[in-house]
Amino acid sequence: MAGPDDKNQKVVHGYGDGGVDTVLSVDEVHEAADAISQRPSRETLRGLADGEPVLRIEGLVAGYGRMEILHDIDLYVGKGQSLCLIGPNGAGKSTILHSIYGFTQIMDGEIRFEDRVVTRVNPNKKLKECGIAYILQDNSVFPDMTVEENLWMGGFLLNKSDATRAAAERVFEKYDRLAARRNQPARVLSGGERRLLEISRALVMDPAILLVDEPSIGLEPRFINMVFEILHDLQHNEGKTIIMVEQNAKKGLEYADIGYVLVSGEVAMAGKGDDLLADPEVGRLFLGG
Ligand SMILES: Nc1ncnc2c1ncn2[C@@H]1O[C@H](COP(=O)(O)OP(=O)(O)OP(=O)(O)O)[C@@H](O)[C@H]1O
Ligand SMILES: [Mg+2]
Repeated sequence: MAGPDDKNQKVVHGYGDGGVDTVLSVDEVHEAADAISQRPSRETLRGLADGEPVLRIEGLVAGYGRMEILHDIDLYVGKGQSLCLIGPNGAGKSTILHSIYGFTQIMDGEIRFEDRVVTRVNPNKKLKECGIAYILQDNSVFPDMTVEENLWMGGFLLNKSDATRAAAERVFEKYDRLAARRNQPARVLSGGERRLLEISRALVMDPAILLVDEPSIGLEPRFINMVFEILHDLQHNEGKTIIMVEQNAKKGLEYADIGYVLVSGEVAMAGKGDDLLADPEVGRLFLGG
């Protein structure tokens, strides 16, 4: 049990970029986040999505093995919109992305892509038939392969190597930084270029929906901005729908059209990204004061 004196010992595990005196411990965040939970209704969540949702999750109960992590999750996102999940460590944010892609045990509920029920469709089919791509975070490039070969790996589900090569070519036309290094091993890339390669590899399949887990993790600030600019371009100029998890709640909410706060496997709050950003409780818990 924590004694009364422990209150004065600041534990520096927090969110956002406020000063140390505004940082709450993980336990404090959990408790306080539970307390502010508003459990938004299905109608509220539905109302945040523009038009007919391209992806619709209703009553999702899911986890790993027999362990239930997500309890009755609803989520709606319109075509060409972006949605950012924030919340404390272990809340189940990544598990939502995993469930959409097909990496979890789904115990109840439904996931729909446009008109198709895809609840238990496996990841390869999700990618090939539904155009849902999951962007692996951190260190998923093959360091000894060239940048170009790494991109070709993104087309492993395409039988036609011509189509893969053409898709890689489109990536090089778009991103000079990668084109300049196409024949070099991926290990020479900077952290930001590596993240760009991870995102681009998913683009080879021309997905409609990008699932992105913590795009800013481990990057220096200038690369963080670059990654968000790239995601912004993919959303606004190429019509991609983006569902992301972001530990940097401020960046994530500034970027996204819709924000969900996930706490203990439930949606505790939801709103337009800007509205959550301006919410004092969200600020206190996730934005560092
Ligand atoms: N492959 C797995 N097998 C078993 N349990 C898992 C697995 N992956 C995650 N978990 C558990 O599921 C819970 C939710 O984890 P999840 O990774 O979804 O949290 P998160 O909100 O993404 O947290 P973080 O901010 O730390 O990334 C945690 O208790 C975690 O231990
Ligand atoms: Mg996670």
